[in-house]
Amino acid sequence: MSKALRTLLFSCILLSLSVSSYAQTCKSYSFSSNRVYASCQDLPVLSAFLHYNYSSSANTLDIAYRVTGATTSNWISWAINPNGQQMAGSQALVAFQNSSGAMRVYTSSVASTSISTLSESALSFGVSNLNGSFVNGEMTIFATLTLSSGMTTVNQVWQVGPVSGNNPQSHDTSSNAANMRSVGTLNLLNGTTTSGGGTTHGSFMDLVDLYVTKPKMGELFGTTAWFLWNHRNKVRLNDRTLLLNRVGEAAKNLVQQVQSVREGHRGVRRTRRCKWTPPQVGDFKANFDGAWFDESDEAGIGIVVRDSSGLGGGGLIVSVIGGGIWV
Ligand SMILES: *[C@@H]1O[C@H](CO)[C@@H](O)[C@H](O)[C@H]1NC(C)=O
Ligand SMILES: *[C@@H]1O[C@H](CO)[C@@H](O)[C@H](O)[C@H]1NC(C)=O
Ligand SMILES: *[C@@H]1O[C@H](CO)[C@@H](O)[C@H](O)[C@H]1NC(C)=O
Ligand SMILES: *[C@@H]1O[C@H](CO)[C@@H](O)[C@H](O)[C@H]1NC(C)=O
Repeated sequence: MSKALRTLLFSCILLSLSVSSYAQTCKSYSFSSNRVYASCQDLPVLSAFLHYNYSSSANTLDIAYRVTGATTSNWISWAINPNGQQMAGSQALVAFQNSSGAMRVYTSSVASTSISTLSESALSFGVSNLNGSFVNGEMTIFATLTLSSGMTTVNQVWQVGPVSGNNPQSHDTSSNAANMRSVGTLNLLNGTTTSGGGTTHGSFMDLVDLYVTKPKMGELFGTTAWFLWNHRNKVRLNDRTLLLNRVGEAAKNLVQQVQSVREGHRGVRRTRRCKWTPPQVGDFKANFDGAWFDESDEAGIGIVVRDSSGLGGGGLIVSVIGGGIWV
C-alpha cells in the first residue's frame, strides 16, 4: 500500500508540474490591435485575468476582463461591489455570445442573490467603451469605468456561468465551488489584492505545497484518493458503498488507526477498555484479535473460545510470517 501511495503521489506531483507549466500569467499576455494595459492581475480562480489602466487624476479605470477556456455557452462577468465582497450589490459588466453569434455586452446591477438571470440595468458609476470579444476560447470584456474620487480600493467580484436561450443562468453555488471564492479587494493605486473567499485550496500546486510541507497530509491524500476510487468502483458494480460525503471522515479515521497501530508497535501500546459479556447458556463465544507488523512482515491472530460461565473452552494462536502460517 505504501508503495502504491508513493507512486500515486509521485504521479500527482508530475501531473501538477506539467499542469502548472501550462498556467498563464497576465504579464506575458499581449492583446491584438496593440491594446496595452499598465497593470494586470491573475485572478486566483476561474482562469480569469484582469488587465487595467487606472488614472487617479481622472478617476477612470480602463479594464479588460479575460477568461480562458470559455465556450459559446458561457457568460462571463466582472464587477465592482461598493457593498462588500459578495454578489448582492455587484455593479457588473456581463458578456456572452448570443445565438446570432454576436457578442452581447451590457451592464447589470445585481440586486440580490435570488435573481434568475442577469438583466440589463444601469450601474452606480459611469461606463463607456463597452465591448467584448470571443476568440480561441478566450472571452473578454473591455470597458472604461468612471469611478467617484477616493474609490481606490474596490471589492471585485468575477464570474463565469452557463447561458441558456440567450439568458445567463445561475453559476455553480455549491459551497466549495470556485464561483464562491471569486471575490476580493483590489487596490487600484498599487495593485495590491486580497482574496475574500478564504484560502484558495484546490489547485495542484496547493497539493504539492501541502505534501512537501506536511508529509503526513500525503498519507491522508492517498487514502482519500483510494476511498474515492473504491467508491467509484462500487458504484459502477451497484455495490453498497459509503456516501461520498463520508469519505473524508473515513479516510481520516483509517489514517489515524494505522498511525496508532504503528505507534503501539513501537512500545507504547494503548489498550482499549472492552467489556466482555458471556454468551447465552449452551452457546460459545469466540473472541479474536489480530496485529500486523510492518517492519518484520509478520502478523498474528489470537482466538479464545469461552462458554456462558466464562470458562475457556479452547484457544488458538496463529502467527503469519512472510506468507507462512504457524499454529
Ligand atoms: C494604458 O496606459 C498606457 C500608458 O500608461 C497607454 O499607453 C495605453 O494605451 C493605455 N491603454 C488603454 C487600453 O487605454
Ligand atoms: C445578438 O446580439 C446582437 C448585437 O447586440 C443583436 O443585434 C442580435 O439581435 C442579438 N441576437 C439575439 C438572438 O438576441
Ligand atoms: C468591438 O469589438 C469588435 C470585435 O472585437 C470590433 O470589431 C469593434 O470595432 C469594437 N468596437 C469598438 C467601439 O471598439
Ligand atoms: C498599497 O496601498 C495600501 C493602502 O493604500 C497599503 O495598505 C498597502 O500596504 C500598499 N501595498 C503595497 C505593496 O505598497
